[in-house]
Amino acid sequence: MQSAHLLVTGGAGFIGANFVHYWLAQHPCDRVVVLDALTYAGNRASLAAAEGNPNFRFVHGNILDLGLVEGLLRDEKIDTIVHFAAESHVDRSIHGPDAFIETNVVGTHTMLKAAKSVWLDSVQSPLDGGGGSGRGHRFHHVSTDEVYGSLGPDDPAFTEDTPYAPNSPYSASKAASDHLVRAYHHTYGLQVTTSNCSNNYGPYQFPEKLIPLVLLNILHGKALPIYGDGKNIRDWLYVEDHCRGIDLVLQRGAVGGVYNIGGHNEWTNIDIVTLICRLVDEAIAQDPVLAQRFPQAPAAQGKAADSLITYVKDRLGHDRRYAIDARKCRTELGYAPQESFETGIRKTIVWMLANEAWWRAVMDGSYRDWLDRQYGG
Ligand code: NAD
Ligand code: TYD
Repeated sequence: MQSAHLLVTGGAGFIGANFVHYWLAQHPCDRVVVLDALTYAGNRASLAAAEGNPNFRFVHGNILDLGLVEGLLRDEKIDTIVHFAAESHVDRSIHGPDAFIETNVVGTHTMLKAAKSVWLDSVQSPLDGGGGSGRGHRFHHVSTDEVYGSLGPDDPAFTEDTPYAPNSPYSASKAASDHLVRAYHHTYGLQVTTSNCSNNYGPYQFPEKLIPLVLLNILHGKALPIYGDGKNIRDWLYVEDHCRGIDLVLQRGAVGGVYNIGGHNEWTNIDIVTLICRLVDEAIAQDPVLAQRFPQAPAAQGKAADSLITYVKDRLGHDRRYAIDARKCRTELGYAPQESFETGIRKTIVWMLANEAWWRAVMDGSYRDWLDRQYGG
């Protein structure tokens, strides 16, 4: 089989970087080109393990740059776009929605325009040597379950047919991008797939999101901020299981298809934070070196990490519950997550403890500015 040429947008971000490492390991003959603007959430260090691989290339650039994207599609003979690049943090979208419209809506549209122009409209399509049949290409759009809105406690989980009802500027911008992807398939015949995934966690996650934030705050003896009553529910998936799901969609998914990835792992925020507290306390109790490395962690001082739990003002418009009905992925693609929450969280803690240089590097001035703004210093 011919090797594929992938363009991975947002490949220096959390899920994108995991996807690049996953793909190079699973498909070593394929070429992987990353396009990333390296915003506050993008980190070249997350791709260090791929640098030096002759099949890997990093391009520092913006998805809003149509000429750059078209040039890459042509020069690199890209046949597969995996589009992760986005503004991804709900809290930031509440403070400043404009960047979300720019990147998530206009940026996705720019990617679609470039793909259409090079794959479908060009007399000299790099994929079929001319004629513009669009044969053999794929535009995979990575989206979120948040487009479906908020569930009540007894509502059935989101299926691919659940009507869109986005509530935050983030989810609204993702919903808009999903509709554009759908329209480019329906109107122009662009070969697209979309996946709507639940909350991810794992290595390389920027520490403004709940799980890495809580982990690092415990290590530094800082308050663990719980919004509202802490009873909001998310359906959590280990990031490598998400990457595996996207791989299956690319290999087996129907063109034009939508796939919900995740499922059966609903947790309240307070239960997650309590679990992480317990696991970090145990890790520090078992390893005196950790107590020396992180003297401010409660366990290093004979205290329990859950003493740091602090209830704070709720997020505006905070969605109560998300849950994924994963039946379509299971039956059509044969997909099943491999990690349980306990195993995935343990792996994440082990990774964080082993990669202090990575998280110290990302906790730079702009990150601290965000914490000051969001949590008041
Ligand atoms: P992230 O914020 O960690 O990474 C986003 C990446 O996109 C960063 O590397 C950033 O530099 C890059 N980027 C942002 N704007 C760009 C632009 N204009 N041009 C080029 N690059 C740009 O996000 P993530 O958590 O890895 O999420 C990746 C994708 O997965 C997003 O589309 C998000 O909506 C979706 N998603 C995330 C989750 C989750 O739990 N994190 C769940 C479901 C879906
Ligand atoms: P987050 O990681 O921001 O993901 P999302 O909002 O996309 O689901 O938040 C996960 C949940 O944790 C969400 O219900 C908000 C809550 N949360 C807190 O309680 N405290 C925090 O400091 C953060 C960042 C999130």
